[in-house]
Amino acid sequence: MPSSVRFLTVRMFSLLLLLFFHLRACHSSPSMHPLCHEEESHALMQFKQSLVINESASSDPSAYPKVASWKVDGESRDCCSWDGVECDRDSGHVIGLDLSSSFLYGSIDSNSTLFHLVHLGRLNLAGNNFNNSEIPSEIRNLPRLFDLNLSMSVFSGQIPAEILELSKLVSIDLRWNSLKLQKPGLQHLVEALTNLEVLHLSGVDISAKVPQIMANLSSLSSLFLSHCGLQGEFPLGIFQLPNLRFLSIRSNPHLTGYLPEFKSGSQLENLLLEGTNFSGQLPESIGNLKSLKEFRAAKCYFSGAIPSSLGNLTKLNSLDLSYNSFSGEIPSTFVNLLQLTYLSLSSNNFSGKIPSTFVNLLQLTYLSLSSNNFSGKIPSTFVNLLQLTYLSLSSNNFSEFPSFLHGQNHLEFVELSGNKIEGHIPKWFMNLGTETLWCLDLYGNFLTGFEQSVDILPWNNLRDLELSGNKLEGALPIPPRLCGKPLSRKCGNGEDSLPAAKRDEGSAAYPLEFGWKVVVTGYASGLVIGVILGCVMDTRKYEWLVKNYFARWQR
Ligand SMILES: *[C@@H]1O[C@H](CO)[C@@H](O)[C@H](O)[C@H]1NC(C)=O
Ligand SMILES: *[C@@H]1O[C@H](CO)[C@@H](O)[C@H](O)[C@H]1NC(C)=O
Ligand SMILES: *[C@@H]1O[C@H](CO)[C@@H](O)[C@H](O)[C@H]1NC(C)=O
Ligand SMILES: *[C@@H]1O[C@H](CO)[C@@H](O)[C@H](O)[C@H]1NC(C)=O
Ligand SMILES: *[C@@H]1O[C@H](CO)[C@@H](O)[C@H](O)[C@H]1NC(C)=O
Ligand SMILES: *[C@@H]1O[C@H](CO)[C@@H](O)[C@H](O)[C@H]1NC(C)=O
Ligand SMILES: *[C@@H]1O[C@H](CO)[C@@H](O)[C@H](O)[C@H]1NC(C)=O
Ligand SMILES: *[C@@H]1O[C@H](CO)[C@@H](O)[C@H](O)[C@H]1NC(C)=O
Ligand SMILES: *[C@@H]1O[C@H](CO)[C@@H](O)[C@H](O)[C@H]1NC(C)=O
Ligand SMILES: *[C@@H]1O[C@H](CO)[C@@H](O)[C@H](O)[C@H]1NC(C)=O
Repeated sequence: MPSSVRFLTVRMFSLLLLLFFHLRACHSSPSMHPLCHEEESHALMQFKQSLVINESASSDPSAYPKVASWKVDGESRDCCSWDGVECDRDSGHVIGLDLSSSFLYGSIDSNSTLFHLVHLGRLNLAGNNFNNSEIPSEIRNLPRLFDLNLSMSVFSGQIPAEILELSKLVSIDLRWNSLKLQKPGLQHLVEALTNLEVLHLSGVDISAKVPQIMANLSSLSSLFLSHCGLQGEFPLGIFQLPNLRFLSIRSNPHLTGYLPEFKSGSQLENLLLEGTNFSGQLPESIGNLKSLKEFRAAKCYFSGAIPSSLGNLTKLNSLDLSYNSFSGEIPSTFVNLLQLTYLSLSSNNFSGKIPSTFVNLLQLTYLSLSSNNFSGKIPSTFVNLLQLTYLSLSSNNFSEFPSFLHGQNHLEFVELSGNKIEGHIPKWFMNLGTETLWCLDLYGNFLTGFEQSVDILPWNNLRDLELSGNKLEGALPIPPRLCGKPLSRKCGNGEDSLPAAKRDEGSAAYPLEFGWKVVVTGYASGLVIGVILGCVMDTRKYEWLVKNYFARWQR
């Protein structure tokens, strides 16, 4: 008896083993894996053939032509193995198509075979050039879509009403096309698609109020509505959405609003309000936004003092409050903002001394305090800000040449114009950023000259220099790249020379090919020097700022 039981168990065991191996073999064998369906393979191929590959269609540096490897014969004829194509494991249907930044150029029209891929859940065609196609209403043929991404891909016209039928949508990204959302409008969209988590419509022409009902989208985590022509008052409830992490409503000059009382537990990481008609004060409860990393509220109509609770936002790395009417002093709690890399408080009505607590902002690369009413000395503790590349202290009431600049190695922009800085430009200053300094603006102070006389300025990469509006005396120092008359420096091989422009009496402008603008004031007298190389917001400076600080402008 026991032996037969044993026999039975062994038999059962080997049977099970056999079954196990059989199942395994079935699953790993390529012949058993469902091949891509013929008609879907065909539809994808026709879609590919309706477009051309054009390298100028995608600007993303990582772009490459994904469809180039699609083949209908040979080993890789299974469309499920094609680059950018995702199939369902069991049914073999195409459920995802990611052809973002694939150099695709051409029109998508209503009979595009794209709309035969009825099992699609995820469609990403972002970063191509669809030649101002409208989004065809046949998009309704893709009822399983939950993630639609057509951002930056040259679509135009009205967003079709059929998109409201795609009730599974949780993520929509239509940013930066020439699209309109008016018939249907934002309100219809939000009423129809209540599961939305991501809604990115920046650059879409909406030209309407933000509907109150948007504050009912309790799953919403990312809302980008910059440059949408929004009007009316922004619903306060949106700030309170429990899952909201990213909110951008930048550049909607007719959008009014206030900041609400913030409750604790907010997930908000990025709050971008720049260029709206928001006003009022920053509430003390802003200190509850513990996750906040980026707060940009420049060019609004905020006023009042900065609440000291702002110093509780220890994750903050970017704070821009420029071009408002804030007043009062910088709270000493700023000492806690250890992650801060970007700080702009320019063009407000701040006053008082700059707190020495700035000492802790060791990560700071961009600091602008220009056009305020700060006064006195710049605290010597500033010497710790060794990462600075951009510094603007223009148009304040500072009285001394900022000695903290001593030892700075990364400076690219230094603007100290419009203060009351007296005396010489110190000798140590001439060793500063000799390879990095790009723009130096000392216009409108009481500077009398260089502590050590110089013939050639030491900054090899200087592009913009402004020394006028001072009391400088002595010989005209030459920027290192400049040579030829009227400058005393002779040109060597391959150097940029001043073009032979006619010089007016007393002052003259020498626009140079590579961007220098030199105005030599009173050169003839030889007493007063002023080299003006307008440190203005020109295109190169703008590009520099974009490259270094606003790379994520797309929001
Ligand atoms: C490539 O695309 C650009 C627009 O992005 C267009 O001007 C150009 O004619 C296209 N070239 C070809 C060969 O289609
Ligand atoms: C792009 O659109 C223009 C105007 O509608 C049309 O003439 C041209 O043929 C289109 N180019 C492609 C590649 O579809
Ligand atoms: C449909 O496709 C055919 C070619 O496949 C094309 O000639 C025709 O213009 C298209 N119709 C529309 C309405 O785009
Ligand atoms: C849309 O696609 C682009 C390019 O792949 C990507 O950068 C962007 O994050 C996508 N949008 C969303 C909401 O995922
Ligand atoms: C939106 O939310 C508010 C308050 O939570 C509720 O009173 C209202 O009925 C909701 N509206 C819709 C259309 O669900
Ligand atoms: C900004 O809001 C104020 C009311 O707070 C209003 O009077 C003004 O017209 C608005 N400005 C714009 C450009 O909409
Ligand atoms: C900020 O932090 C201080 C000290 O940690 C605390 O007393 C205060 O309640 C906090 N304020 C807010 C608004 O979180
Ligand atoms: C700046 O603040 C002062 C008081 O400190 C006030 O008199 C002045 O009007 C304010 N200026 C602006 C432009 O808000
Ligand atoms: C600057 O501050 C001083 C006091 O420190 C005050 O008298 C003056 O009115 C302020 N100037 C401006 C333009 O706000
Ligand atoms: C500098 O301070 C003086 C008074 O000390 C004040 O009149 C002037 O407005 C201030 N300048 C700036 C730019 O704030």
